Amino acid sequence: MASTIRSAMTADTLDVRVIRKDFPIYQQPYEDKPFIYLDSAASSQRPEQVMQAMDEYYRRFHSNVHRGVYTLAEEATARYEAARVKVGRFLGAKDPSREVVFTKNATEAFNLVAQGLGRVLLNQDSVIVLTEMEHHANLVPWLILQEQIGFTIRYITFDSDGYLVLDELDSILDGASLLGVTMMSNVLGTVNPIAELAAAAHRHGALFLADAAQFAPHFEVDVSGLDIDLLCLTGHKMLGPTGIGALWARSEILDRMTPFLGGGDMIADVRLDGFVASEIPYKFEAGTPPIAEAVGWASAIDYLESVGMGSLRAHDLKLTEYAIANLTGSLGSAFKLYGPKVAADRGGVVSFDLAGVHPHDVAQVLDQHGVCVRAGHHCAKPLMRQIGTAATARASFYLYNDEADIDALVAALEDAYALFN
Ligand code: ALA
Repeated sequence: MASTIRSAMTADTLDVRVIRKDFPIYQQPYEDKPFIYLDSAASSQRPEQVMQAMDEYYRRFHSNVHRGVYTLAEEATARYEAARVKVGRFLGAKDPSREVVFTKNATEAFNLVAQGLGRVLLNQDSVIVLTEMEHHANLVPWLILQEQIGFTIRYITFDSDGYLVLDELDSILDGASLLGVTMMSNVLGTVNPIAELAAAAHRHGALFLADAAQFAPHFEVDVSGLDIDLLCLTGHKMLGPTGIGALWARSEILDRMTPFLGGGDMIADVRLDGFVASEIPYKFEAGTPPIAEAVGWASAIDYLESVGMGSLRAHDLKLTEYAIANLTGSLGSAFKLYGPKVAADRGGVVSFDLAGVHPHDVAQVLDQHGVCVRAGHHCAKPLMRQIGTAATARASFYLYNDEADIDALVAALEDAYALFN
């Protein structure tokens, strides 16, 4: 299988026809329509290799982890822990076996940060800073904690082209304990200046928390080089299974944090009048963890690394440039693009408005053409208010998409426009 992936690359280009052979969903009929999947920002498809890894795990190696001393249990534990190290290395972690906490998804990772770190870091006089382009996953956990203990949240706004407004950054960060920012907006596509933001946070003595849910599937991440303190991501947007995500944090931060979920496997000792938490990262992983999902995620990382994150980014960029040029060229002023006009400043996400057509109608007409896009508020209601709309349509690209997919999108949008105008 790995040789298939390698032969799918020539320098910076991906051979999408070869890549698609690895994805079973492309090998089956899609009712009587073509299958044009442009919704990978919501969830990616997964290759055969990931499913095979999970299948093999269940067939040959499954047992619970961290509990048994028999050979099978040790094999399952080794595979689970190897997956942890793989995720940590993919992120550039210095201590991958101790710094990755497996969670259900990125959202749970943010909740772990808010409850596990927020409760020891913050009090009613504290300040944290977020941005107006955050996904609800990096907003609501803080709003819940704010209701519980009371503190101030300041927000960095963004301009009409989807860039964060950083002129007042130093005064916004004054006195802050934490800055939390998405590395790539799931609506605007904006790729934020993470190294600059992390440095600014540290100048003010604040911790820097990154949302990599959209970024990690498409770009190389280097938590050490970028000087990030905590980072949340999810497996299902990067060819892995659903049901697994992770918090990566520097070990000294994880050491400071208190457990969020209590139960089996996260303790060193339990008495009727108290407990002693286990070491990191285990003290955050209560109950039987997502073992097969960790194995599948590790396989997804192998796949991405075989393709090469640089080649993947070059492919995303090429498709994004092609999409913006052709959508604008074909639909003219009827097509309103949200976010940066410069493709190099964004990931492979294109949110838009089609004049006179509600985004949900856009998505339905596109569906008749076999084109799958997301329409709605994209779990970013404050962002939507800031751009002055309740919903957008959004097309998002990944390694199995090509220019023909975008041609199909353009043709379907021309049809939707003609139908409603
Ligand atoms: N957060 C995912 C999205 O943007 C689900 O679609």
